Amino acid sequence: MKKLSGRRKFRILKTAVFISGTGSNLRNLIKFSLTKRSPIKIIQVVSSYSKAKGLEFAKKYKIKHNVYNFKNRMKSENEILINLKKDKIDLICLAGFMKILSKKFIKNFTGKILNIHPSLLPRYKGLNTHVRAIRNNDKFSGCTVHFVNSRLDSGKIILQKKVRIYKKDTPQILARRILREEHILYPKALIKISSNL
Ligand code: GRF
Repeated sequence: MKKLSGRRKFRILKTAVFISGTGSNLRNLIKFSLTKRSPIKIIQVVSSYSKAKGLEFAKKYKIKHNVYNFKNRMKSENEILINLKKDKIDLICLAGFMKILSKKFIKNFTGKILNIHPSLLPRYKGLNTHVRAIRNNDKFSGCTVHFVNSRLDSGKIILQKKVRIYKKDTPQILARRILREEHILYPKALIKISSNL
């Protein structure tokens, strides 16, 4: 691969992070993006919810952020696309984004949208993953970073991390344990795929 500058051997990917809530993954990705080994620079934060706590992190780190309410999905997606193209965004990281993106939207960024999901996919696609894993007496759950395609939580898996479920676990306790691993996994997945984008 071509050496672009000094020590860095990869191109920095202009990245947009999509959120809907707390934004702990966003915060973690921002911190990661400021390190030397990061292949991403976060240019935009997109939120589907005006009161998303995660927006505070965008403000704190002075990252451009916009809220789109998705009452009319096509309208919101078109506005998002215009803004992403304006900033020449290379990569989208979904991080707790609770809206389902249309096939048309995804086609604009084929192979360039990543998501983090709190289960060992293909087990427990969709919501309430921790409740379902505990109810089924699973010994392990975990988290998965995968590419996004038009089917929910079904794109190619990039990395997974297994997390033990203990007898006394509540969904909240398990969620917290898994979230800690998510914060390690997402940056690792970005490093893994970055040279192929
Ligand atoms: C994470 O568990 C993520 O895997 C899921 O939604 C949660 C978002 O958490 N998709 P946060 O908003 O990043 O704290």
